[in-house]
Amino acid sequence: MNPVILLVDVLSAERESWKTFLKSQKYDVLTADSAESAWLLCQREQPDLVLLHDHLPQVRGPELCRRLKQDPLNQVTTVVLICPEPTPSESLEAREAGAADFWGTPSSPVEGLGHIESLLRLKSYIDEQAKSVILSLAISVEAKHSRTDGHSHRLAEYAMQLGESLGLSEDDLQELRLGCLLHDIGKVAVPDDILLKPGRLNPEEIKIVRQHPVTGEKICAPLKCLRPILPVIRHHHERMDGSGYPDGLSGEEIPLKARILQVADVYDALTSDRPYREALSSEEALEILRQEARCRWLDASLVWKFSGLCQSADYVQVRGHSMLASYYASGSQSSQPRGGL
Ligand SMILES: [Fe+2]
Repeated sequence: MNPVILLVDVLSAERESWKTFLKSQKYDVLTADSAESAWLLCQREQPDLVLLHDHLPQVRGPELCRRLKQDPLNQVTTVVLICPEPTPSESLEAREAGAADFWGTPSSPVEGLGHIESLLRLKSYIDEQAKSVILSLAISVEAKHSRTDGHSHRLAEYAMQLGESLGLSEDDLQELRLGCLLHDIGKVAVPDDILLKPGRLNPEEIKIVRQHPVTGEKICAPLKCLRPILPVIRHHHERMDGSGYPDGLSGEEIPLKARILQVADVYDALTSDRPYREALSSEEALEILRQEARCRWLDASLVWKFSGLCQSADYVQVRGHSMLASYYASGSQSSQPRGGL
């Protein structure tokens, strides 16, 4: 995916030459001619870089920059203010508004290119670091609250096998994997005394726990690279009959990857040891999945597909869990470590 640059610039007669030049350098370029359109484009596209010329008629550049950076979706978006002859006080104001840099007007797009490349490299590095932190956070949340080791990694494996059998593309499979690893990250905001409570939760506690898909979505939303998995995180507790949460979606309104995750999630939970019971056998777990499909909680077609995979002759045992030998033999597995298996 090409980096996306938003040019916010009313007066520059060179806007089109900038646009043409940046496109020739393999950037996707958007333009905005008002503060409002800049705001809307940032909401919709989460650009990697905003070049904000300080001559908008209704709002000063630092004000718009501050407004953009205060939006959770664009907290990590790189904004550069451009002014013909910036003074030290204007430069300070720009930095206080959250601008990554404050440039004098470049004499040509070529002159600005080196700066742009440096900023985008830095942005890419920061995004990767932030993604690593979020993944680490998800692992620590699971280690603290999950009653079984490696649950999200195993469910990612099951989900990817099911997704592969449905013909999902490699990009979709990697998004599915990431969604599985991060789906419960919102539990970081649920107090321990609720998540670890041994008895039944009261209605108020249930309400708090049920906020975790929305909280997880908010945690991941600022990172553009996680945008494709936000629907998986938000909707992983919906049910086919519409009785799930947070939005009460039903049937195919529920994103396919979320429905795949649900099947894998229930299967792994049932085939793992719990403090109050031993792990169920694969067949026992599949029977419960079928019951949940008949109740219209899980997607019946995915449950039948998954049952077929689990019962295929190519089955192998990995740490007590059934995995498809054909998956490994096909050479289609990702280069990612098969964590938890
Ligand atoms: Fe969850």
